[in-house]
Amino acid sequence: MKKRWPIVAMIVCIFLIMVAVLFFFNNKKSKSDSPEYVFFYAENQTSDYPTTLGGQKFADLVYERTGGRIKIIVKYDAELGSEAEAINQMKYGGIAFARVSLSQLAERIPAMNVLLLPFLYNDSDHMWRVLEGDIGAEFLLKADEYDLVGLSWYDAGARNFYSKSKPITCLEDLADMKMRVQESSMMADMVRALGAKPITVVYSEVYSALDQGYVDGAENNWPSYESMKHYKVAKYYTIDEHIRVPEMQVCSKVIWDMLSEEDRQIIRECALESATYERQLWKEREESSKKIALSNGTRIYELSPEEKKRFRDAMDDLYTRYCGDYMDTVRKIINY
Ligand code: GCU
Repeated sequence: MKKRWPIVAMIVCIFLIMVAVLFFFNNKKSKSDSPEYVFFYAENQTSDYPTTLGGQKFADLVYERTGGRIKIIVKYDAELGSEAEAINQMKYGGIAFARVSLSQLAERIPAMNVLLLPFLYNDSDHMWRVLEGDIGAEFLLKADEYDLVGLSWYDAGARNFYSKSKPITCLEDLADMKMRVQESSMMADMVRALGAKPITVVYSEVYSALDQGYVDGAENNWPSYESMKHYKVAKYYTIDEHIRVPEMQVCSKVIWDMLSEEDRQIIRECALESATYERQLWKEREESSKKIALSNGTRIYELSPEEKKRFRDAMDDLYTRYCGDYMDTVRKIINY
């Protein structure tokens, strides 16, 4: 009997060591499984929309590159509120990240209106040259004026007018039409300058505003027109490309200041990579949205070059009223 003791002791020791090793690894695993930070990201588009998928890509990249220390939860469909509400909450760090229409930032940082003046860019390439150059970099920094950190630019194409009961083919067609606009004083004045009556409606309510006749028309890009089902209630779509409103991915400054320099660098890189991805998705979605709308009865109209010039000429006052102090930058953009 006595001889068995060393063997039993050895078995007990091995067992205890195994338990300790298992405990150690388990403990380590659960530590890296629980992130150091969990942040919310606000998005007002649907789950399959290019900007939402871009936001999700950003969240995935950040999670991966911080080894799971930073987890970002993308809340789409305006679950965290309208863009204006999200921006206001970001000022206090209630929401960490968002992708927003520049028109909403311009309401708080008026200089931003420069980048969304009507008929400013000749086409998408022109806008991207500007956004990817020194002017784009300078305007990302301006987000700081509202305690935000500008991370990257997202595409939102060109916006066009659409209406419920008659097509818009000339300035006179817009006369007295109740036209939905974003919560933006410049957009309201743009519509007024074209002879229509601006009605401010938050994005999530535009479908019912059109359906119930609260407005006669609205204006937006193809993907928004399709994904929000506006094509079901406003069949006349006029390609006038009156405005390109870029979008910005932003981070709350309160949150940014909490992060290490290394994490900030990762976040910047991931935001830029997600923006490249979003731009690719955007092109595809513009095409597919157009097809869906057309196969559901949308009728397309185009402005003649003469008529487009009349639309553009009506904007002169707007340029001086909103961007008079930045005319050098405006001229630089036009010639970029
Ligand atoms: C676009 C943009 C949204 C914005 C909307 C609007 O769809 O992507 O962020 O809210 O226009 O017209 O309000």
